[in-house]
Formats: sequence, C-alpha cells, structure tokens
Amino acid sequence: MAKPKNKKELLQTPKGMRDILPHDFLYWKAIETKAEDIARSYGFKPIRTPHVEKTELFGLTLGETSDIVEKQMYAFKTRGGDALVLRPEGTVPIMRAYFEHGMHTWPQPVMLYYSGSFFRHENPQRGRYREFGQFGVEIIGEESGLADAYIIRVFALILQEAGFKKFTVHINTLGDKECRPEFRKELVAYYRRKVNSICKDCKRRLKENPLRLLDCKNPMCVEIRADAPQMMSYACPSCRAHFKTVLEFLDDFEIPYTLDPHLVRGLDYYSRTVFEIFTDPDAKEKPEKKSEETPASAAEEPEKKAGQNEGRIALGSGGRYDTLAETMGDRKAAGVGGALGLDRIVDELKERKITPFKEKAPVVFLVQIGAQAKRKSLVLFEQLRKSRMGVAQSFSKDNLRAQLELANKLGAAFALIIGQKEALDGTVIVRDMGSGTQESVYQKKVLDHLKKKMKNG
Ligand code: HAM
Repeated sequence: MAKPKNKKELLQTPKGMRDILPHDFLYWKAIETKAEDIARSYGFKPIRTPHVEKTELFGLTLGETSDIVEKQMYAFKTRGGDALVLRPEGTVPIMRAYFEHGMHTWPQPVMLYYSGSFFRHENPQRGRYREFGQFGVEIIGEESGLADAYIIRVFALILQEAGFKKFTVHINTLGDKECRPEFRKELVAYYRRKVNSICKDCKRRLKENPLRLLDCKNPMCVEIRADAPQMMSYACPSCRAHFKTVLEFLDDFEIPYTLDPHLVRGLDYYSRTVFEIFTDPDAKEKPEKKSEETPASAAEEPEKKAGQNEGRIALGSGGRYDTLAETMGDRKAAGVGGALGLDRIVDELKERKITPFKEKAPVVFLVQIGAQAKRKSLVLFEQLRKSRMGVAQSFSKDNLRAQLELANKLGAAFALIIGQKEALDGTVIVRDMGSGTQESVYQKKVLDHLKKKMKNG
C-alpha cells in the first residue's frame, strides 16, 4: 500500500467529499424529515438500494457519451473480478429494483421515495460535490401528465416548507421516439452550418450527443443557440397533448413555471417532460463562496457549470423516462421522477440564514455532584428521558456552578440537583432556573412534581 506523501493529507476527506458536522446535520435531518413526511402523505413509499451497482447498468441507460458515464463514474473491479460502480444517480437503480422485485405486478403506479449519497467524479465547486445527497421521488407505471406535475408539486411543497420563498421551475419537453429524431436532424443541420463558431466541446457534442449542444453555457454558443430549432415545433400530437396536460396541472397547483426550450438535461433516459428548479435570482447577488478546489479549467470551460442558470443553482431536477425500462431490460414501464440536491438546499438555506428546524431547549437539566450521585441519577435520568420531557446532563462536569451555567446556557426550565446527601436520602433539589427558588423533593415523586409545576406555569 502506498504511503501518504504527507501525514496531514490523512486527516482530510477525499477531494469533493465532506463531513457533515453536528450543527449542519440538523439541517439535513430537518429537510429529509420534511421531505419524507410530504412524500409519504402524497402516497410515496420508501425504498433503499445499494450504494454500489453493476457498471454496465449505467452505461446502457444514461448514455455511453453522457458526461456521467464518460468521465464521472467511480468504477472499480472487486477482488472477485466484478465491475462495479458507486451509484451516480438513483433512477436507474430504482428501475432495476422495480423489475428485480416484480413491482410491475403490484397495483400501478408504484410510487417510491429515497434519500442517500450519490457519487460523481466532477470538478468540485459551489454546490457541486463528488459525494452528494439526493432526495428523490419516482412514479413508475403511469403515463399521464398528472404524474409529472405531481412530482413538481411535491418538490415545490418540500422547498416551501424548508423555508424557500421563491424558486423557479424551468420546464421543457424533449419529445419521444416518434418526433425527436426529426428535431435532432434539424438541430444537427443548424449547428453544422455554425460549426466554425462553436466551442471545442460543442464540436464533439455535435457528433456524439447533439441535444446537449443546447446546454452549453459558453457565451458564443449561447448566442448561436438563440436561433436554434426548438423541440416544441417538432413535437408530435401526443407529446404536445402530454406537455399541455402537465402545464395545466401546474396551473391548477398554482406553481409558476418558465418554458425553457433549451433545457435538455445530461442523462439520456429522458423523454417528454424535463424540469429543473432554480433558486431565486437574489442568490446571484450574494458573493460566491470561494472553493479551495475550484479548478482553473472552470473559467475556461464555463459550460461545465452544469446545474447553474445565470448564477442560480438547480435545487432539484427530473423528468419522464418512458423508454428507460426498454433500454435496460427490454421491458415496458412508463415513469417520471426527480431528485432534490440536499447539499445545495442546505448550503442555500444557510446562506440565506433560514433555519428549517427549532432547537428545543431541555425542560430539565440533571446536575450531579460526586460519583455516588452520578450512579444514583442514572435511574432518574432514564425516567425523565422516557417521560419525553426533554432532559440534558453533563457526565463530565462535577462542579455545581459549571453545571448550572450549562443548564442556563441550554435554556432548561429546571435543574434537578443530586449531591452526596440527596444520593443517600433519595431526594433531589428542584431549582427553578427562572426564579432561582429551590425545594427538596423525593426522587420517586419528582416526575409528578415537575409535571404539576409545568401545568401551573
Ligand atoms: P440530476 O440533475 O443529475 O438528476 O441530479 C438531481 C439534483 O441533484 C440536481 O438538481 C442537484 O440539485 C443535485 N446534484 C446533482 N449533482 C450534484 C453534485 N455533484 N453535487 C451536489 N448536488 C448535485 C438525477 O440524478 C436524476 N436521477 C433525477 C431524476 C429522478 N430524474 C428522474 N427521476
């Protein structure tokens, strides 16, 4: 095994990955809890898939020329010779699970939600990590445009409840097998005429993945894009009708949206609806956090700033994937879904000083002085914990003053003090932290005593 160049490196996470420390964890937990509650109440059921999948699963489904498959997968061979990959996204594994467990025989549609880590070997920068959290929802076995709007509605509710006042839903249709080839042909013809003016990456895209030409953020290419053919003009009657249904439902749900004819997304499995949800433009005015790792190439390749739209960050995105099942297993199953980026949501909330949780002060702080008191108070602590009253203590502090200071800092309403005397005679001193008054109560009766005190205010 190679020795580290310098020991300091051992004490750092791998590039693009982070520890979530206790305070930030509260944000993560709050968002995930809100998201789960909303998804559950809208009929979604939880699912968890492995962090590792077979490499070939993604090559087939995301597109061999997609950025993810070409350069971002953490792929490895096991000692047994299996080619595996750290999952770069969640939709493909869920579709695999759908067939593997015979979910196509369940009542349709099957509505699932998940949250967890995903891995992409990208250049780390603001809002972009190599390990990142997603909260995703998928509706499989439903063709109606209502399902597409339903996904967006669930995301809008989650973002609102998390504390975002404004965000923008960008939406587009990519057509289907019937109508997209014609659009693709026209797009290629248009860009061939402009080939000398487009960037190096777009020249490659023109050959390999022409739809992604529309996604380029290079100013020169953005200018050319303005007159490029638009999918809507080529959409077949059924794709048009589908898109109309989605938009009508969004109107019914009172979710404002922006039609974005250039929205294409980086995953090949999409057909018909695609969407991205961006933060409001205010975020743009805020100074960008300087990432230690921002690569020099980011400035030279502005189109690499995927997930951003005029400085806004995509908090979530998704779309319909009616042919994904066919690509992966010659099966049929319409589907639509999306994923929220949890890191981005937390980063943005913190930047806006929005706290999606309330830190609850403990009602009681258990002060213990001396070894005997500490032993005796274990039982009392457990009784208080079970009563769900909210109890805190400090095992490491022995000094009365230090423990009372901590109780005060935490905002506890009462301190229960057990010293050597109390440990022996089975009493406890109940100190009202507001008034400073104290009284001695039997430990056995302290729970009822506290309840009474709280009731009487
Ligand atoms: P995606 O657009 O690749 O779609 O990712 C969804 C969301 O995850 C993005 O909008 C963004 O908020 C977050 N995200 C993506 N990459 C990163 C990163 N490197 N660092 C931080 N956050 C990131 C999908 O993954 C699809 N599976 C979504 C979907 C579900 N489509 C249909 N169903």
